[in-house]
Amino acid sequence: MKELAEIFEGRFGEKPKFFAEAPGRLEILGNHTDYNEGIALSAAVSQRTKFAMSPAPGRRCRLVSSLDSVERSIDLDSVERVEEVGSWTAYIRGLICEIRKRGKDIGAFDAAISSDIPLSAGMSSSAALEVSALFAFDKAFGLGFTNTELAKIGQGAENNFVGVKSGLLDQFSSINGKESSLILCDFRVNEVLRTVKVPGNYVIVVINSMVKHTLVESDYNMRRESCSRALDAMRVRHPELKALRDVSPSNLDEWKSEMAFADYMRARHVVMENERVRLAIDALLSGRMDEFGRLLYESHDSSRLFFENSCPELDLLVELSKSVPGCIGARLSGGGFGGISIHFVEKEVAELYASRVAAAFKVATGIDTTPIFCELGSGARCVEA
Ligand code: GLA
Repeated sequence: MKELAEIFEGRFGEKPKFFAEAPGRLEILGNHTDYNEGIALSAAVSQRTKFAMSPAPGRRCRLVSSLDSVERSIDLDSVERVEEVGSWTAYIRGLICEIRKRGKDIGAFDAAISSDIPLSAGMSSSAALEVSALFAFDKAFGLGFTNTELAKIGQGAENNFVGVKSGLLDQFSSINGKESSLILCDFRVNEVLRTVKVPGNYVIVVINSMVKHTLVESDYNMRRESCSRALDAMRVRHPELKALRDVSPSNLDEWKSEMAFADYMRARHVVMENERVRLAIDALLSGRMDEFGRLLYESHDSSRLFFENSCPELDLLVELSKSVPGCIGARLSGGGFGGISIHFVEKEVAELYASRVAAAFKVATGIDTTPIFCELGSGARCVEA
C-alpha cells in the first residue's frame, strides 16, 4: 500500500485515510450456476486491486489510477451521465447509483487505485475494483451494508450500468475468499457452505487464451435467457421448481421434450455442473485428486458441447494440458467465449509445464501468452489509517 499512498499524497497533498483491497477470483467449478441458484467452487487469488481514499468536501470526486496517472472526476450531482464510455469510472458511477437505490448515499472523496489483476482476462478485475471501492465507501461513510448486500451492489453496477446480466459469483468470491483454500458458494442462500484447502503439492496455473470476444455481453445474456426459458418450460407441469438448482439430471432428461433443444443443452450444462461441484468436494476431501481433475475436464467438455461457451483457443489449451506431463485437470474459467483457462498442476513441474504449454500454443496459433501462477488469498478488507 506504501506505493499507492505515495501516489495519493503526490496528487492530493495529504495521506489517504482509508485503505481497501479486494482480490481477483478464479471460478474452479460450477460454470454459470450462480444465476441459477446453484453451487460453485471458487477462490480468491493473491492478485488484488487496492483503493486508497479520503472523504473530501464538496460534490466532486477525484480519482487517479497508477496505470496512467490521469485524473478523472465524478460529479455526485450527475452520476448517471456517462461521458467516458468504457472507462473504469463507469463502475464507480454504477456503484453510487446502486447505493442510492438502496436509500443510502456517499459524500465526495479522493481516491488512488492500483491493481495487479490482469484486465479483461476472466479473473474479475472489475469485481475487484467494485468491491475494493465498496469496502472503502462502507467504512468511510458508515453505510452499514452486509457483505452480501455489498456483493449485490457490485453485481447491480454490472447488470444495470455496464449491461452484463452476471450473477453474484465474482463479487461474492472477492469478498469471501480464504487463504490457500477453495470456497464452496451456495447462491440460493448466498453463503459460503465450507472451505477446502488445496493440497500444497498443486498449483493453479492460469493460461489466458488472449481471445477477447467482442459480443461476450450479449452471448452471456443469451445463455442466461436460455436457462430461464428451460426452467419456464419445466415449470408449466412442475410449478414447484424455483430454479435450475431444483432439477436433477434424470428429471431434466425425462422432461427434455418440454423445451427447445438448445435450451435443454444449456440447462444440462448447469444441472451437471451442480453435480460436478458436489462430486469435486468429495474428491478433494478424500484426497482423490485424479477424480477432481477428471471433473474439471468433464466440465470443459460440457462447456464446449452443451453450453457452447468455449472457443478453439481455449479448447486447444485444454487439449495441450493432456499431452504435457504434470496437469491433473484443466478447463475454461468464468463466463467463457475467450478469456482464461485454469490448470491444476503438480508444483515441482509447474514452471516447465507452463512454459511448454505456452510454447506449443504459440506454435499452433501464433498467440503469445504469459502463464500466471496463482496463490490463493483472503477476501476483501478495509482498514482506517
Ligand atoms: C462471469 C459472471 C459470473 C458467472 C460466471 C460463469 O464471471 O460474472 O456471475 O456467471 O461468468 O460462471
